[in-house]
Amino acid sequence: EELEIGGHQHFMHKEMHEQPETVRRMLTGRLDDRFATARLDGLQLEPRELRAFRRVKILGCGSAYYVGQMGASMIEDLARIPADSEAASEFRYRNPIIEPDTLYVAVSQSGETADTLFAVREIQRKGGRVVGLVNVVGSSIARECDGGVYLHAGPEVAVASTKALTHMAVGFAMLAVALGRVRDLSFADGQRIINGLKQIPDQVAAVLEQEDTIAEVAKKVAAAPSLFFIGRVRGFPVAREGAQKFKEISYRHAEAYQTSELKHGPLALISEELPTVAIVPRDDLLERNIGAAHEIAARRGPLLVVTHDGVDLGELDAARIVVPKNEDELDAILLTIPLQLLAYHAALSLGHDIDRPRNLAKSVTVE
Ligand code: AGP
Repeated sequence: EELEIGGHQHFMHKEMHEQPETVRRMLTGRLDDRFATARLDGLQLEPRELRAFRRVKILGCGSAYYVGQMGASMIEDLARIPADSEAASEFRYRNPIIEPDTLYVAVSQSGETADTLFAVREIQRKGGRVVGLVNVVGSSIARECDGGVYLHAGPEVAVASTKALTHMAVGFAMLAVALGRVRDLSFADGQRIINGLKQIPDQVAAVLEQEDTIAEVAKKVAAAPSLFFIGRVRGFPVAREGAQKFKEISYRHAEAYQTSELKHGPLALISEELPTVAIVPRDDLLERNIGAAHEIAARRGPLLVVTHDGVDLGELDAARIVVPKNEDELDAILLTIPLQLLAYHAALSLGHDIDRPRNLAKSVTVE
């Protein structure tokens, strides 16, 4: 283990820093400039079959479920078919309706998560078609699905998943463009997304370079017993995943909320004692998100804003982390990276066992 960890103090640190290289490798050979699409031969679906699906249902657990929500939004944006993500752990217990024209996608790093595997079997028993987005080659979910896309993130040791999640998000972007290009997504828009994906490895590296700054903010945030992570629409799954990572290794209470819902209740909790991490992308919701941040600041809530270059926050009293802008549909991928570093450095400053957090297993193979 010592050898494999290289110069890093923890596997989580090593795995976060591998991302530019592993994502580059994952994209190799899968982006097709000629047809402005992604080549996902492992799905074993002809363009005609891909076109016939009228809905996409994503199933995963924990962080995989949250990244599934990012994926659902990419699919709705690019392919314009209804898509959603559900916790696989709930799905099988609610007698789900399995439809023949729905594409089911099981997403899992380990490929051994019992809840996700049982969801796959339930779908298949009822005649549904399920493909996998899986990291571990030859794992149970990968074997049992009717085709799929390997994530190629390499081995992930830390319980808190980082690179595998980034690969899932990139995998969903490729699936979304592939589904879009057999429908109404134009060549130009397909090319725009393909070019956006090509930039991801360098842009991830640019976020990782800000580690020292993020570590400083993390120490401050870790001092609070509880915090909010907020985002809306495409930013909400980012907030959910950010809160999950933070809880997992810092053991601090972190709650994700839709920014738009704050005023319907949780705003009552805002005070000097409760920091908020706000996801504020440069997109069509920018002004609304900035407005919400000002409301928090007006109630003396400490703020950390994760945003894009070129965003003017005015007089807002907030710490900020700036990530490179990509295409709107792909922004969630990069906005998640600083939240990995934030959780890592918060846990480090609290002296926790980062790679093996208490009460958790890397892969949950029991129900
Ligand atoms: C992520 O940091 C967590 N350890 C956890 O939520 C994980 O994503 C979940 O248990 C699913 O695991 P899988 O991807 O191996 O199926």
